[in-house]
Amino acid sequence: MAVGPSIEDLHFAMEPSVDEIPGPNSQKLLERQQEVDSSAVAYPKRIPIALEEARGATVRDVDGNTFLDFFAGIGVLNVGHSNPYVLEGTQEQLESVAHTIDFPTEARIDLIDKLREIAPGGLAGSSNVVFGGPSGSDAIEGSIKLAKHNTGRHGLLAFEGSYHGTTAGALSLTAGKKYKKGYSPLLADTVHVPYPYPAQDPDTGDAGALCPADDCCMNDGCARALDAVKRKFEAPYGGHSTPAGIWVEPIQGEGGVIVPPKGFLQGLRDIADDNDAMLIVDEIQTGLGRTGEWFATDHFDVTPDAITMAKALGGTGLPIGAMLYHEKFDTWGPGGHVGTFRGNAPAMVGGLRAIEYIESHNLLAHATELGSYLRDRISEVAETTPEIVDVRGKGLFVGVEFEDADGNPDADIVKAIQTHCYENGVLVWSAGRHGNVLRLIPPLVLTHEQAAFGMDVLGEAVRAVTAEAH
Ligand SMILES: Cc1ncc(COP(=O)(O)O)c(C=O)c1O
Repeated sequence: MAVGPSIEDLHFAMEPSVDEIPGPNSQKLLERQQEVDSSAVAYPKRIPIALEEARGATVRDVDGNTFLDFFAGIGVLNVGHSNPYVLEGTQEQLESVAHTIDFPTEARIDLIDKLREIAPGGLAGSSNVVFGGPSGSDAIEGSIKLAKHNTGRHGLLAFEGSYHGTTAGALSLTAGKKYKKGYSPLLADTVHVPYPYPAQDPDTGDAGALCPADDCCMNDGCARALDAVKRKFEAPYGGHSTPAGIWVEPIQGEGGVIVPPKGFLQGLRDIADDNDAMLIVDEIQTGLGRTGEWFATDHFDVTPDAITMAKALGGTGLPIGAMLYHEKFDTWGPGGHVGTFRGNAPAMVGGLRAIEYIESHNLLAHATELGSYLRDRISEVAETTPEIVDVRGKGLFVGVEFEDADGNPDADIVKAIQTHCYENGVLVWSAGRHGNVLRLIPPLVLTHEQAAFGMDVLGEAVRAVTAEAH
């Protein structure tokens, strides 16, 4: 028997209903926010609403407008807002014990067991889990410590286009200059090399010569990226100390929903093995069903040394970060990695119940199928829209890249489409190194009917915005 209600019964509605936006109540709260909140506030600048309640893939503002949510709190609400099966468990746990540091609770041990079971490749069953601070950045900090501790090195290698968070170590790995400006120097000997970008890599035909993998997939960008990684480890004049590890998003999120060629992760695995370095795969945005597999790593048949998780791990948006790593790296002693909030038991129940809900309602298959539907619908629009230069992704992780008539990245189109969608009740977000990628990351509980409606609105938005530009 399936746990919790069917995905059809989770939402306020199958279609949005918007009247005046932002309505008077939203206006008031937005103005109050403007007065007292930090000037770092960003989301309401692009989507000016104040939230009242949310259910499934729908969000209601304080004026009673209902929106379809195609970004799920930036990949957090994989089982939808306020999923009743998840809520029931988190509320019970909240009333029994919430803050547990690292004392054992059923919530903690059951979640660890489940994560060990669904972990990618050879990590399944042979891994340990460590909780630290509650965010994705905290999980990344833990992974930096793990790699340093196990290799005795301090250098870090990450990729152009990457996003790994904003605490000092994580920010060192993050590539976006806008996040780092004014805060350097960060961690020493951190290098960034190109990430394969199939939509943009020119084909120079030298893939085989550069790629260290035996079964090269002949993608030039991938081969050049692997060659750059290899040189950072092995070239005597590579310019940096040999890295302790390689940090990689299996599909870049913030960088523009970029799916690397099939052999890329395996190539990294081989280089890490040849150089006694750790391969750390950041599954913070891609994990827990987002791409139609438990982890995006599963698409590439590779066993990382460690994966980092956060975002969807708390089930209903409760904060929790974690790292799962091969047990051979469990070399630190008591207190080796700590954090006051490493025992948020309601979030742990939330994570476990979210995984159970995904299993019980076959949401991995649903994400795969619905993701293909979204990409097909956008590809149809692309046939008559030269500004759309690529439609990509896996499962319900979808990117649509836009360029202007001169072939330059066009962030303005994306912003205008986002506004048009918002005015018609559909919330979408952006990504990409130049802000020119529309990113769709709806809850996995999005229904076919909602997906169809959302794509009608998005198609209309693309047509309206590009018609203006022509
Ligand atoms: C791939 C990836 N890593 C790390 C992070 C940082 O997570 P947090 O914002 O919870 O610190 C994010 C956040 O968007 C992310 O997408």
